[in-house]
Amino acid sequence: MKTFQPQDQVAVVTGGASGIGRALCEALLAGGARHVIVADVQIDVARRVADALGTRATAAALDVSDAAAVRALAVQVETTWGGIDLWCSNAGINAGQGLGDATDWARSLGVNVMGHVHAAQAVLPGMKQRGAGCFVVTASAAGLLSDFRTAPYTATKHAAVALAEWLAITCRGDGIAVHCICPEGVRTGMTKASSEKAGKGMVFLEAEEVARHALERMAQGEFLILPHPRVADYEARRASDRQRWIESMNKAFLRTQPSAETTPN
Ligand SMILES: NC(=O)c1ccc[n+]([C@@H]2O[C@H](COP(=O)([O-])OP(=O)(O)OC[C@H]3O[C@@H](n4cnc5c(N)ncnc54)[C@H](O)[C@@H]3O)[C@@H](O)[C@H]2O)c1
Repeated sequence: MKTFQPQDQVAVVTGGASGIGRALCEALLAGGARHVIVADVQIDVARRVADALGTRATAAALDVSDAAAVRALAVQVETTWGGIDLWCSNAGINAGQGLGDATDWARSLGVNVMGHVHAAQAVLPGMKQRGAGCFVVTASAAGLLSDFRTAPYTATKHAAVALAEWLAITCRGDGIAVHCICPEGVRTGMTKASSEKAGKGMVFLEAEEVARHALERMAQGEFLILPHPRVADYEARRASDRQRWIESMNKAFLRTQPSAETTPN
């Protein structure tokens, strides 16, 4: 299977108007991509980004949780450009704190899980027919480990990693490369509040570093892309002793909770 090189490729990047998605668009164009579609639910921002990127970028309005809209965009790009070489399924949301409510779960499942499913259903048949293509899921380190601040984000990102792995296994013989990007903290719109008051131990990368790292690893054919190398170590620790992992995560969780003395009555 050919590994991904951006030169002359046609790419769609969902959530392309901001953060990691925008940086992926920039890195792809810098690498010689033929055309990049900046697909985002915030169409005005996507238009501004595409304008700034130049004539090899176009904005597209897209809500990734809408299966018909994802299908329509895939058909439009295939018709206009003769095929989709790369689909970066990057759009994601962090909705709700703690266990979250019904709306947080519905939104998180719609974007963080079904957004990838709709995209896979829309673009993989065309890639299979052409015997080539690349499908990238932006999940999160929270999908390999746990983010105890939010259950909807953690659970849906675990599902995103599982889906990406399933696709990598089942599409391998079809000439399609599947990659899964699992960053820890990245300084973007999503983490604006938390990165400004980042506690000790939290390492925030810039979105451009994540995009650069992702393209390098895609060129090397690596499925799991870990811009923060220590995530590999954490994942190994979690897998080798789940009980100990839960105990240490619980200690970290408790440190974030107001102590009994300071809790108001
Ligand atoms: N920032 C981090 O620390 C971090 C860490 C790990 C993983 N991630 C993941 O990276 C991806 C990109 O996040 P980011 O940090 O760049 O955030 P961001 O908020 O800067 O960008 C997300 C973009 O997705 C768009 N979007 C949201 N819902 C959409 C929808 N339904 N359809 C289409 N577009 C939609 C937003 O308009 C926005 O432009 C997400 O999947 C996120 O979960 C981020």
